[in-house]
Amino acid sequence: MFRPATRTSFLVLKRDLTPSLQYVKQPSTSLIFIKSISTRLISTTDSSKSTATTLGNTIQHQNHFKNENDVARLHEELLKEIPSPLLRIPHPKPVRDEFIDAKTPLTTKDLESIDIKVNLHRVPVTLADKIAFQIVKSLRIPADWFFKKKYMHRAVMLETVAAVPGMVAATLRHLRSLRKMQHDGGWIEHLLHEAENERMHLMTWMRFSQPNLWERFLVAVVQGGWYNIYFLLYLLSPKIAHRVAGYLEEDAIISYTAFLNEIDNGNIPNTKEVPDIAIEYWNLDRETATLRDVVLAVRADEAAHRDSNHHFSDRIILKREDLREDIRRIFAEAESHTTNKIAGINEAATAKWARKEKS
Ligand SMILES: [Fe+2]
Ligand SMILES: [Fe+2]
Repeated sequence: MFRPATRTSFLVLKRDLTPSLQYVKQPSTSLIFIKSISTRLISTTDSSKSTATTLGNTIQHQNHFKNENDVARLHEELLKEIPSPLLRIPHPKPVRDEFIDAKTPLTTKDLESIDIKVNLHRVPVTLADKIAFQIVKSLRIPADWFFKKKYMHRAVMLETVAAVPGMVAATLRHLRSLRKMQHDGGWIEHLLHEAENERMHLMTWMRFSQPNLWERFLVAVVQGGWYNIYFLLYLLSPKIAHRVAGYLEEDAIISYTAFLNEIDNGNIPNTKEVPDIAIEYWNLDRETATLRDVVLAVRADEAAHRDSNHHFSDRIILKREDLREDIRRIFAEAESHTTNKIAGINEAATAKWARKEKS
């Protein structure tokens, strides 16, 4: 008989190892099963053979489980066996072409020359736009009150909030694609990429500043509320949800611009101790990189999110959600030299949006 704790561990182990194990009910059948599991697990490497042997032995000698250490040892063994699709170290990709395509490390001058249209503002036109704008404005009030000019701490909170919309939108569009058995129109990957990019922002700021316990608690509470609110909002109105994300990004640009001003005024030291994660992710110049460069890079990403989310909202309004059709058309036009511009919000965007407001 197992002692209760050991028995629980083994049940958990059985669940984790393979669903097939649930069929092992009697010693006679388990031996047949050991063979089939071992055969399945044996692959080209010696380590997998040893794992298979370990697994087989474990099942065969399950009655000899005496303590938690046996189970822990088995887990250790199994951890050495990484499924082949996982055998690569994922390197998150930046969202902007300027970072992806850079042949040489980016200097401060390079970062400053990225045209992000820092003051671009989507003028609220429809009632949905106005609701979205008010939601974001109201979110800013507690943030301003709580963080004041603590921009580094504010950035940590901001990124935990900003990393939610992309993931929620991707989840819901994924489920919709499954339900309707239709292609998602090319959105999901971009949305997931956006969420990952925001998470990289957070990972970067965490290297610069360690939030205190109270701030961590606040992040947990805000996340619990924000994820669910945004999820419901996206279910009710994806166009408002994307507009909210667009305005949130506009706000992020304002916050990071204020952050830059504080550095330039000398109120925040422009440290040269830039973490590796930032240097590698944005391809910064290791010799010259400073905190200011990181803020410039993050702000440029936020501008990309601003443009994408406003664009997504517009697509929903226009009922032209399939991105692929327009991408094909734009590239076809580019090939036939009828246009020089591949994509992106151009200088006239604000004027166009303003005109819409008047009409
Ligand atoms: Fe961000
Ligand atoms: Fe963002």
